[in-house]
Amino acid sequence: MTFMELAEARYSVRKFSDKPVEKEKLDAVLEAARVAPTAHNFQPFRIYVLKSSEAIAKIRKLTPCAFNAPVVLMVTVAEEEQWTNDLEKGFAAGQVDVGIIGTHLMLEAAEQGLGSCWVAHFPPRSTAEAFGLSRHETPIMLLPLGYPADGVVPSPSHALRKSLGELVKEF
Ligand SMILES: Cc1cc2nc3c(=O)[nH]c(=O)nc-3n(C[C@H](O)[C@H](O)[C@H](O)COP(=O)(O)O)c2cc1C
Repeated sequence: MTFMELAEARYSVRKFSDKPVEKEKLDAVLEAARVAPTAHNFQPFRIYVLKSSEAIAKIRKLTPCAFNAPVVLMVTVAEEEQWTNDLEKGFAAGQVDVGIIGTHLMLEAAEQGLGSCWVAHFPPRSTAEAFGLSRHETPIMLLPLGYPADGVVPSPSHALRKSLGELVKEF
């Protein structure tokens, strides 16, 4: 599969089958995150693999967007490790780094035949507390992960993308 074929084939999955995710597949997804670039190579992220029944019950209580996935990845920024821009105050790269990590996770999941969905609709502070994270670590994304349930198809929004003319400007 070419990169473009993979990028176009990935879509958000919000209903999962009961089939467990094999360890090798999960490892491949996590490895894709490990090789991702980060600002100054500071790698200020952590990935929590929520898969015990206790952890899954906890995350499902915190957000409706854990869906019925057998595994949920929670990606956090370790704030004290992130690169900050010394040319202008107030710009740090941790969330951007997580954006890249998350993209690698989703695309490798798709390559492995797994479904996933980027989730921002969860309460970061309550989630950090519920999982006992350090005060300096903030969860930025959740990624429910598993095999798509029978009959799952891309939602209509998967096909709705602005044209390059709307998105790209030349100077
Ligand atoms: C930063 C970000 C946050 C998102 N948060 C949620 C979410 O909380 N719940 C959800 O169901 N989908 C969420 N999505 C998925 C988007 O709705 C989805 O990617 C978009 O509609 C395009 O559809 P597609 O992924 O099938 O191509 C999120 C996606 C991104 C990139």
